[in-house]
Amino acid sequence: MLDAIFYKKLNSTQDTAKKLASDGRRNFAVVADSQMKARGRFGRKWHSGKGGLWASIAVAPSDMEHVQYLTFAAATSVANALKKCCNLDVKIKWPNDVHYNGLKICGILTEGAFGKESFAVVGIGLNVNQKKFSVDIKKTATSIKKITGKEHDIKKILDSVLKNFNRYCILYKSRNYSKILYDWKKYCDTIGKEVKAISSGKKISERKIISGKAVGIDEDLNLIIMSCNKKIALTEGDVSVRY
Ligand code: ATP
Ligand code: BTN
Repeated sequence: MLDAIFYKKLNSTQDTAKKLASDGRRNFAVVADSQMKARGRFGRKWHSGKGGLWASIAVAPSDMEHVQYLTFAAATSVANALKKCCNLDVKIKWPNDVHYNGLKICGILTEGAFGKESFAVVGIGLNVNQKKFSVDIKKTATSIKKITGKEHDIKKILDSVLKNFNRYCILYKSRNYSKILYDWKKYCDTIGKEVKAISSGKKISERKIISGKAVGIDEDLNLIIMSCNKKIALTEGDVSVRY
């Protein structure tokens, strides 16, 4: 099982989990009521005041080449927990977003340390009881409270997420990647959609956009799109996808 370590306030649960993992600890989750310097993919700001579930899980990856399966496992764990605890049907947008009616309710960030003492830290940011969001995300974000109109028990949802994730860790360690992908696909709504992939350049002028139809996922979890009759594999670390 995964032990959970609770804090009131941290800069980022990712950083605290990494610190503990670099001291040799594994199979635990760092959880905070609020974070002051949380980040998303590409170092983007992640809003995480009180009312959300902010957690980072440190695991010893058996196979760094397949570490991206942990992102998929976390998104699937959240989607399943939301159905169980809140009767909410959410969708996963490749590679790391959980959304409801097109609004982002959860993001996943997987970071790793490679080398002799390798570990992976899987960060989960889930909006639970927030009533409103700041101006920069209010058109794109939602919370369980906003959807259902009532408060939910963050600890209960966390327990369900950790239980699910622990099951996926066992599959990951036994290299049963196809089962992880199979479950993830049940929630994913990206395949079959027309998408725009935006490359992750810092300046807008450096970003390129490719449009096409998402037709599948390969075994490295790249998104395959058909664009101008050509198959293109999009890598998680390079692009943001928009519907
Ligand atoms: P994609 O995942 O396709 O790249 P994205 O815009 O969701 O698209 P991410 O890097 O995954 O980008 O997520 C970070 C973004 O999430 C931030 O730039 C911000 O717009 C948004 N965001 C920040 N905090 C929250 C939050 N608590 N809830 C929902 N969205 C948030
Ligand atoms: C994204 O959508 O880009 C990923 C967002 C990940 C946010 C979580 S909140 C817990 C953990 N701590 C962080 O600083 N980030 C992740």
